[in-house]
Formats: sequence, C-alpha cells, structure tokens
Amino acid sequence: MQKVSSKMKAVTSFHVMEVMARAKALESKGRDIIHMEVGEPDFTTPQPIIDQGIRFLQTGAVHYTEAQGLLALRKKIAAFYSKQHQVVVPPERIFITPGASGALTIALAALLEQGDEVLMADPGYPCNSNLTTLFGGAPKTINVSIEDDFQLTAERVLEHWGPKTKGVMLASPSNPTGNIIPAKSLAALIKVSEQKSGFLISDEIYHGLVYDQPAVSALSFSDQTFVINSFSKFFGMTGWRLGWLIVPEYAINAANRLLQNLYISAPSHSQYAALAAFDVSTQDILLQRRDEFKRRRDVLYAGLIELGFVIPHKPHGAFYIYADCSHFTDNSYTFALELLDKQGVAVTPGIDFGANEPERYLRFAYTTSVERIAEGLQRIKAFLQQP
Ligand SMILES: Cc1ncc(COP(=O)(O)O)c(C=O)c1O
Repeated sequence: MQKVSSKMKAVTSFHVMEVMARAKALESKGRDIIHMEVGEPDFTTPQPIIDQGIRFLQTGAVHYTEAQGLLALRKKIAAFYSKQHQVVVPPERIFITPGASGALTIALAALLEQGDEVLMADPGYPCNSNLTTLFGGAPKTINVSIEDDFQLTAERVLEHWGPKTKGVMLASPSNPTGNIIPAKSLAALIKVSEQKSGFLISDEIYHGLVYDQPAVSALSFSDQTFVINSFSKFFGMTGWRLGWLIVPEYAINAANRLLQNLYISAPSHSQYAALAAFDVSTQDILLQRRDEFKRRRDVLYAGLIELGFVIPHKPHGAFYIYADCSHFTDNSYTFALELLDKQGVAVTPGIDFGANEPERYLRFAYTTSVERIAEGLQRIKAFLQQP
C-alpha cells in the first residue's frame, strides 16, 4: 500500500482551523462572530502598494524574476536596515522569498544535517518545529513561562545546549505572546550561539508592530545570524506571499540554489508591488495602523485583566495577547469551542503553540476593531457569568 513518509507524523495541523471552520459554519447560519483568532491584519494592503502592483501587472510584469528577488527591492530593504537599524546589509545577502514561511524553509534547509537539534521556545510558532523535522532536524523545545516573559535567555539556551545541538530559533516579538527579547538578552543569545559555533535564526516578522520600545534586529549585533522578515504583518500583505531572508556571507550560494530549486522566484507581481512599501506615503499609512493596533492592545489587555485573565506583563508587540485562563477552566481548547458556540467569539487555544501547559492559555488576536473587541469582551463576560 502507498503511504506518506514517516516524517509527516511530526507535521501537525493547526487546531485553530477547527475553530475557524466552526466559526464559518455558524456565520453561514447567520450568527455574528467576533474574530480574535486570526493571525493577520484586518486592514487591506495600503493603496500605494496595490496601485504599484496594478501598474506593473499592466506592463506585463508576470514573469519569473531572478531567483534572489528584484535587485531594486533588495536595495530598498538594505536602505531600510541602514536607516532603521544603522546596519549595513549588502543586497547580495538579502533573498526575497514567498513569505517568512519561504525564508524559514530556506534557512533550515541550508543549515540542518540529519539529527541536528534546534533549540526553540515553547510556546512558539508551531511551524518552526514542523519545518525543523521536515528538514531532518530534531526540535528541542525549551519551556518558557511568565518568569522569563515567555522568551529564551542565554542561560536557558546554554543549559539545554547538547552535543547534537546545531542552533537556536527565536522570534521577537513572539507569536503567540507578543513579547519582545530585550536588546541585552538578544546580544547574549547571539554570543552564546556563536561561542558554541551554532546558528541563530531570528524571526523578526512582527518588527514593525511594536508599541512601547523600538525593536532591535539581531543584525545589530552580528552579521552571522539568519534574519527572517516579511511583508505579511506590518505591511498588510499576507496573501501576496512575500518576505525576505538575510543570510551570512557563507550561506549566500546555498540560499541561491535553494531558492532556485524550491521556488524559482517569489511572486513577481508581489515583488513589484512591494517596491512601494518603503515609500513615505505607504509608511504613513502603516504607522497610523500601528497606532491603531496599540489602541486595540490597550483596550483588550485592560478588558481581559478586568475579567480575571492572568497576563502579568502587557505585551509590547505583534497583535496577540496570550492569556492564562486557568481560573476559569482546565482545558482552554474546549473553553475556546464553547465560547465560540455560546457567545460567537473565536479565539485560538494554547494547544496550537506547543506542549507547555497549553490547556492554561488562549491567544487573543486584536486583528479586529476596538468596537468589536469591546463587544467581544462583553460576550466573554456573559460567558464567564453563565451558571
Ligand atoms: C512568528 C511567525 N513567523 C512566520 C510566519 C509566517 O508568515 P508569512 O509566511 O505569512 O510571512 C508567521 C505567521 O503567522 C509567524 O507568526
């Protein structure tokens, strides 16, 4: 009998898909659903980016680009690092990829030998462990908690570094917590990985969405890190499937060959459209949206605390709040399904982000308006008060 590979056992699906399917089914019956499960901005792509994309499509820009991505776009990204982070990143080290997802596959495919261990935080972005397994590696998760702001530290990484460990994956701000690794801690993490001759992949996809302090790129401390970023979140381009990867000098050739073989190139119309992403008119729109996300975060955070959820620190970035709901339930998954059925509020259960006490947590995404968030909080209150 034909069957899929044994590796597929380790590739999990998203439980939130079940929540979303149920939400859709309820909506089709006329129920009003408040969506706080969705990990993408509700805003559409800024108009200058759309206009630029249309202009290029009309000129027939529908062919493959060079595998590494348009040089003009890579130059804009290089200029962004120079202006925003005061670091020089030559365009030769920048690869345009199909989303951060494409960047993650290239980095892991380039780095992993069979059986290599990769350290990563639990809870964390689930694809990191799935993709590590797919490329022959062995994810080694480190349980993080409220005490360490749900982020890895150099000490924890050192503690877990074993003979088979090859590197570390970080995300700051993180999904699902929105917490940021402080600059000093990031520098220490990079130092540890370099002392151990390991790699460090820094996922900076939520970088533009930070509300209280600037986000520091791993590139500010080392040109030996792999940096992942994307046009999906801050730029509001999830469906365009466009991101980027910055690699150290030694990996340029490998990344090029991988891009050619895996993707040929990132979507060309998306690359042309993104040429407008760093324009002042686009940035103005994006910064206004960031301020709106901040307003939403403040409303949701205050509301959840008032209802009795435990969130010791207000998250500084992304658009998520990871809330401890153990005062109300010992199973966040069934809690999420019941909340949806009874009150029409969709949230993501902790089980999607790992095995570290997932039943205690729910992820709330503030990817909907302040008015809808306020309505959602009212409905959650009613849910909690039901006998
Ligand atoms: C931490 C993190 N990395 C990577 C991705 C992938 O994003 P995309 O492929 O849309 O750029 C996501 C998406 O939610 C994410 O949360």
